Order: sequence, then structure tokens, then C-alpha cells
Amino acid sequence: MTRILGIETSCDETAAAVVDDGREVLSSVVSSQIDLHARFGGVVPEIASRAHVELLNPVVAEALVEAGTELDGIDAVAACHGPGLAGALLVGVSAAKAIALVADVPYIGVNHLEGHLHAAWLEQPDLQVPAAVLIVSGGHTMVVAMDDLDQYRVLGQTVDDAAGEAFDKVARFLGLGYPGGPAIDRLAATGDPTAIAFPRPMRDEAFDFSFSGLKTAVVNHVRHNPDAEVRDVAASFQEAVVDVLVGKLVAAADACHAKTMIIGGGVGANTRLRTRILDAATDTGREAMLPSPALCTDNAAMIAATAYRRLLSDGPGDLGGGADPNLRLPGR
Ligand code: KG4
Ligand code: ZN
Repeated sequence: MTRILGIETSCDETAAAVVDDGREVLSSVVSSQIDLHARFGGVVPEIASRAHVELLNPVVAEALVEAGTELDGIDAVAACHGPGLAGALLVGVSAAKAIALVADVPYIGVNHLEGHLHAAWLEQPDLQVPAAVLIVSGGHTMVVAMDDLDQYRVLGQTVDDAAGEAFDKVARFLGLGYPGGPAIDRLAATGDPTAIAFPRPMRDEAFDFSFSGLKTAVVNHVRHNPDAEVRDVAASFQEAVVDVLVGKLVAAADACHAKTMIIGGGVGANTRLRTRILDAATDTGREAMLPSPALCTDNAAMIAATAYRRLLSDGPGDLGGGADPNLRLPGR
């Protein structure tokens, strides 16, 4: 049995988890900094780094206690080493390396996006492959074809804003607060998704996405129609985003002959998106794997699970390795 302590500090969540054999989650602690950033309307990198420094030790301690283990029961320590905010990443990477040195166990650096790809397997270990995965967060929007946990390829990604970023910017413009995704999700449930025909950007162009034009379309519509019902604007905007996301996920699933469609990232918590993916799976005779929202949003269990695979395939990581804010996934 291999017990791994995982650490995640790439953005505004300070997280630690203990996972056995890349499968069994003994603990997963997430401390969100949303309250610290909300009044600025978005994540402030300097504030995020400082908060990680303050929060990481108690979060790691809590993860160990919840798992019923101590440091000497840990076989390896992993941290997300990118992509993400440089200063924020460095807090987790430095802490993980220090713990690995003290405990005399291997250190493993993990790609955050690979973590999102692996999250679904924590809840459903016997997932059928090939699988098409839609990663949609505040920083990323991409479709990935997976033949196995270690065999995957990015098919396409956003050329400008990420889907979550579009939700957050539109919500801010509509005065709905931060983070905008959950606010739009709630309000849209009461609105008419067909009220306004917003554009479906790049719907017919392979696997890439673009959301900045849609955001501008919302702003222009509200400026020209100041009496528009905010809930109808929210519902129509959300429907346009979801149409594009589901369309690309199905196209990716077709292209890689996927048996399963998977979602990951914070926007994966969106109610309408989850419903539409389930419908699309039924329509196309596939399984849909929608991880629980806690595994869609940033967490350290996905980091520890991915680290287990990396340890098996590549051995211990390099204690001299740093953080890479622009780390990519193989593919495009
Ligand atoms: O994956 P995540 O927790 O952090 C990043 O890696 O970015 O994703 C955060 C993003 C934010 O943009 C937030 O507005 C969005 O996910 N989000 C949602 C929902 N919950 C979170 N977007 C739409 N609907 C939701 N229910
Ligand atoms: Zn993420």
C-alpha cells in the first residue's frame, strides 16, 4: 500500500489530502479563500500567496488527523507544480519538498490539469475508456481524449477566456458578485434560456473555444436593452455557453469513439451543464461521469491520486524541480 499526502495551492484554494494507492481518499481538506478575494471581484495573486502561507500548515495537519495518520505513515508527498499562479504554486511546492525531506520520502510534482483528468476515477475506478473529458474552470477550458489514465491528448482549448472566467465577468457586469458561476447558475434557473439569442462562438469549428465575444454580446445587449430581465440575460448567456461546451464534448467523444463522457473543473458544478451532458449521453448511447462538485473544483485528492500514477510510471520526482505557471498537457 502506498499512502500519499497531496497538496494543492495553484489558485485560491489551499488543499491537502491523504489518498491510499491512488484510489482510497482518507481525507480531503479544502480551505477556500473566496471571502478574501470577493471584494476585489476576482483572485488577487499576492493575497492568494500570502493566504496559502498562513493556511497550508493547519490544512495539512487537519488532513493528517482526519486520515488518522501521522507524517511517518506517509510514503510520498506530492504538490501541484503548475499551471497556476507562480507565487501560489511555490508555497505548495516548497512545503511538499520540505515535508518530503523531513519524512525522508519521495516528492512528486503534479500537473494540475492532469489532476482534473484523474478526479473522476476516484469516484468510479472502473470507468470505461476511451473517454472524452471536458475540463472547464476559471483558468482553463479544454477537451481531452483519454485512452487510459496515462494516455491522453488535448484535442482543443479556449483561444481567449476560460468558461468560468466568462461566467465570472458576466456576473460581475450584471452585479451578481463573485464567484459568478454559482450566482448565474442560481438566477438562470428562474429565467428563460430562449429569451435572447446570444451567439454560440466557434460552435462549428473543431474543438477550440472562444468566450470573449459572447461576454461582449451580453454587455452590448444589456446596454441597448436596459430593461432586460437580469434572470433572462443570465439564463440565455448560460444556455449559449452550455450549448458550445456540450457540442464540443460530444464532437470530441465522436472523434475518439468514447464510451464515456467526463467533466472536471469548477464549471462542472453547473446544474444546467450537468443536465445537458446527461441528456447528450443518453442521446448518443454513452455513459456520463459527472464527479461530485467537490471533486470538480480544486482539491488535493486529485493531486495525490495523480501522484500515485506518476510514482508508478516515472519513480520519485526531482527535489530540485520548481513550479511552472504555464505547464501544459501533452497534445496541442
Ligand atoms: O476549478 P475551479 O474551482 O478553479 C480554477 O481552477 O479556476 O473553478 C472555478 C470557476 C469559477 O470561474 C466559478 O465561477 C466557476 O468555476 N463555477 C461555476 C459554478 N461553480 C463554480 N460556473 C458555473 N456554474 C457553477 N455552478
Ligand atoms: Zn482547477
